Amino acid sequence: MAFFERLVDAFYDGVATDEVLLPLYPEQPDLTGARHRLKLFLAQYWGGPTTYMEERGHPKLRMRHFPFHVGPLERDRWLVHMAHAVEVTCDSAVPDGVADELMAYFVPAAEHLRNDTGLPISSSDPRGKQ
Ligand code: HEM
Repeated sequence: MAFFERLVDAFYDGVATDEVLLPLYPEQPDLTGARHRLKLFLAQYWGGPTTYMEERGHPKLRMRHFPFHVGPLERDRWLVHMAHAVEVTCDSAVPDGVADELMAYFVPAAEHLRNDTGLPISSSDPRGKQ
């Protein structure tokens, strides 16, 4: 739990300065709740205590992200901050390979939560105007 607390703190310190991501957070500029939820989710996902489930129920992360616009830009900004957080948190006290394992999870997870293509064709009618 201490590891995920450090990881999530470093991640949200980045989000707090991000003009694309920060406006998405309903309680911003207070990210205390978001920090708490992500920390508990990650600890649970990686085999730790199931407090997230007890507090929030089944994660259903795709559904929980539907209210927020997550296009390619938001996905990429999220990953930039998470990659930085992984780098600073995985210091010499953390076993080799942990950083790679984390990123191998976060990259497809962020793409999975993307709910907009970012392309203008996403809402166009293919039979439309010439
Ligand atoms: C792809 C870019 C992403 C964006 C823009 C994004 C944005 C957000 C926002 C705005 C919230 C609401 C904040 C709140 O709960 O107060 C949220 C919640 C959350 N996000 Fe993300 N997120 C992204 C990716 C991810 C990924 C990859 C994960 C997990 C690996 C994740 C895990 C969570 C969790 C656990 C919550 C709290 C859910 C709850 O219990 O309500 N998010 N996210």
